[in-house]
Amino acid sequence: MKLKQVIIIFLDNAIKYSTDVIEVFLESNQYKAILRIKDYGIGIPEEEQSHVFERFYRVDKARERDSGGSGLGLAIAKNIVNLHKGEIDIQSKEHAGTEIKVTFPLTN
Ligand SMILES: Nc1ncnc2c1ncn2[C@@H]1O[C@H](COP(=O)(O)OP(=O)(O)OP(=O)(O)O)[C@@H](O)[C@H]1O
Ligand SMILES: [Mg+2]
Repeated sequence: MKLKQVIIIFLDNAIKYSTDVIEVFLESNQYKAILRIKDYGIGIPEEEQSHVFERFYRVDKARERDSGGSGLGLAIAKNIVNLHKGEIDIQSKEHAGTEIKVTFPLTN
């Protein structure tokens, strides 16, 4: 259920901050499972990227989109991923898009 919540948080952002297709990739190997959610939306300026996982942090509240939110989604997602010993990686370019990558270790 917690992992489902993480996926919803990422998809919700991709839907809110982009209008084009959203790509979802799921891969695994012997050691890890990797989920990537990629959008082609407004992106996040580089200097803001390290802050988006902080509680209540929203990039430029005046952005002209009616994208109401509290700035909690990514903080919650990071917490859940950490509890599963996973890692989150964000790659984003302003006006080009965002890719969120979550990696979980696989154990026998
Ligand atoms: N896919 C994305 N594309 C562009 N900006 C994003 C994306 N995901 C997150 N952001 C930026 O990071 C900020 C923090 O995201 P977060 O999900 O934590 O909060 P939120 O979407 O504003 O509110 P909510 O609590 O409803 O999720 C957002 O306000 C937005 O500025
Ligand atoms: Mg959100």
